[in-house]
Amino acid sequence: MNRRVCDTMDGLTERFKNMAELFGEACVLMDSQNHVVAANKAALDILGQHIIGYPLDRFLRHPDFNDAVRRACDKGVLTSLDYTRMDEMRRSFTLRLAPFDEAHILLVIVDATMAMSVERIRSDFVANVSHELRSPLTALRGFIETLQDGAADDGPARRHFLTIMQDEAARMQRLIDDLLHLSRVEAEEHRAPQAAVELMPILQELAAAMRDTAQKTGHSLNVDIAPDAAALAAHAPLAVPGARDELRQVFQNLVENALRYGAPDSAVTLRVSVGLLATGEARDDGVCVEVENHGETIAPEHLARLTERFYRIDKGRSRDMGGTGLGLAIVKHIVNRHRGRLRITSQDEETTVCVTLPRIW
Ligand SMILES: Nc1ncnc2c1ncn2[C@@H]1O[C@H](COP(=O)(O)OP(=O)(O)O)[C@@H](O)[C@H]1O
Ligand SMILES: [Mg+2]
Repeated sequence: MNRRVCDTMDGLTERFKNMAELFGEACVLMDSQNHVVAANKAALDILGQHIIGYPLDRFLRHPDFNDAVRRACDKGVLTSLDYTRMDEMRRSFTLRLAPFDEAHILLVIVDATMAMSVERIRSDFVANVSHELRSPLTALRGFIETLQDGAADDGPARRHFLTIMQDEAARMQRLIDDLLHLSRVEAEEHRAPQAAVELMPILQELAAAMRDTAQKTGHSLNVDIAPDAAALAAHAPLAVPGARDELRQVFQNLVENALRYGAPDSAVTLRVSVGLLATGEARDDGVCVEVENHGETIAPEHLARLTERFYRIDKGRSRDMGGTGLGLAIVKHIVNRHRGRLRITSQDEETTVCVTLPRIW
């Protein structure tokens, strides 16, 4: 290769490098025969480390790729293609092809995996919400029609239908309240609350407020403080950086679940301890609140998914109990906002939800 050609090549790759850096994406430079002239690290990571000098369509198989190269080359047309690659996992890309100079084409590979999965989650969510709202709404419309068709004149029937309608409307209200609550805590998640909040009064107030409800299903509801926490609390209150209302909401949702899904006539315990974290390792800068109930053991395949929005082991049961499927999602976001951890375990007919929060001391 003579010196002039070398200079031109160096100039070309230099220009390519600058442009690739500017884009901040995986970039490949090809000649008009599809051969790879240069590629940045991000592109080599996606397509393979040994692509330089070879035709790119060996490493990137797409039915419209060669046509897009031709169009970029001959007509100077900028083309965009969707491209899916199955390596260890499925990844989605957008390929953009544009002329670089008279003899070269630039390929920019934009990783769209994240954006697409966010989009999928969003559309699943909208579908779920619509479905959840539609069933009570359909029921309400059905009963309105029945009343209009003459049932309004029949006293007992009217009272019966109105009671069901009230329940359905209340279900819609709960769902909307939970959705608004969830969206609020999600929006706030990155801002950790700073106020010092004492834990014991929250738990005791909550237990007192819910004891009547618990008794209706024969549950006993107790707050238990482990010796390590009691020793500590004797000197100074157990406090965490937090937002009081949100923390109360966390424990209320967990106790409601324990009462709802725990076996009737069994004990529900709120237990406070320090020193031992959810992982079992000893640390003394956290405080752990466990909500424990007895009942059916939750199968492992469900455990990992319980905090997903609208995930319920038994949809009918949750619905009959007034559930929306959003309680644990709200709990997870509040705990995240408090820089805490949430762990759910279930074995030998005992389910424990453990919230570990950083402690002020
Ligand atoms: N303590 C528990 N014991 C057994 N299953 C539980 C418990 N807590 C939650 N679950 C399961 O997790 C699901 C999701 O809980 P949650 O998000 O609070 O929604 P909801 O209670 O409105 O259905 C429940 O429907 C139930 O199947
Ligand atoms: Mg719940």
